[in-house]
Amino acid sequence: MIRVTNLVKAFDGKEILKNINVTFPQGSTTVIVGPSGSGKTTLLRCLNLLETPTSGSIAFDDTIYTFTPNEPLSTAQVLNLRRKSGMVFQSFNLFPHKTVEQNIIEGPIIVKKQSKASALVQAHALLEKVGLSDRAQHYPHQLSGGQKQRVAIARALAMEPEVILFDEPTSALDPELEQEVLKVIQSLASEHSTMIIVTHNLEFARNIADFVIFIEAGHIVETGNVAQVFEQPQHKRTQEFLNLFGRTTY
Ligand SMILES: Nc1ncnc2c1ncn2[C@@H]1O[C@H](COP(=O)(O)OP(=O)(O)O)[C@@H](O)[C@H]1O
Ligand SMILES: [Mg+2]
Repeated sequence: MIRVTNLVKAFDGKEILKNINVTFPQGSTTVIVGPSGSGKTTLLRCLNLLETPTSGSIAFDDTIYTFTPNEPLSTAQVLNLRRKSGMVFQSFNLFPHKTVEQNIIEGPIIVKKQSKASALVQAHALLEKVGLSDRAQHYPHQLSGGQKQRVAIARALAMEPEVILFDEPTSALDPELEQEVLKVIQSLASEHSTMIIVTHNLEFARNIADFVIFIEAGHIVETGNVAQVFEQPQHKRTQEFLNLFGRTTY
């Protein structure tokens, strides 16, 4: 379980995340929705320390990481916390000069000190899982966007993180390529991987999410299970947001 307590992130003195309190249960999928600029990406980036929170704490089970301005975490703490989560970006972020296989084995070999042989065995199993067994020796530029994103998911899984963070994983993709990526994410959900997904695809969110968070202007306005947030939103802002994104089509 991941517990975020009183998390604040400020850039140049301006608070972008304001006192975030939320729990992500083990084995569940949480979808984060909210308007552009509300802090969704910043929250994900804080969870794996691509951004350092200004204050507050993040706990993975019983291990608590507390952030205080002027008192940075130790390097060991940073590395430990980072290894607990894998990030899948909107723009894939594969290493362009490495093959698919090399993209996947790099982290396990360098960070986890896995042998190359075992990293390769694992990479090929993951490629099969995301339906790309025949692409191991290709370079990213030889792949479609949907294939690139599936490689990025395999790369994140290779690190065996406790949680996978997806930041609008399909928003750079055409609708038909989007589906192949959503199918992979759906299969991870059915295996009870712990996932946090930022998406604007509310139909997908509705199908996959155990829990939904609506965030606006750096605040969590509303949280609950899918039925609560999508069918009976308690806050006017949530209702307005859902109406804007076509709740009436459900
Ligand atoms: N590195 C940064 N420096 C300054 N401001 C930032 C930085 N990253 C994000 N922001 C600001 O934080 C706010 C939230 O951004 P973001 O988390 O990307 O929102 P979202 O993902 O919900 O669209 C925006 O106003 C954005 O300009
Ligand atoms: Mg964003």
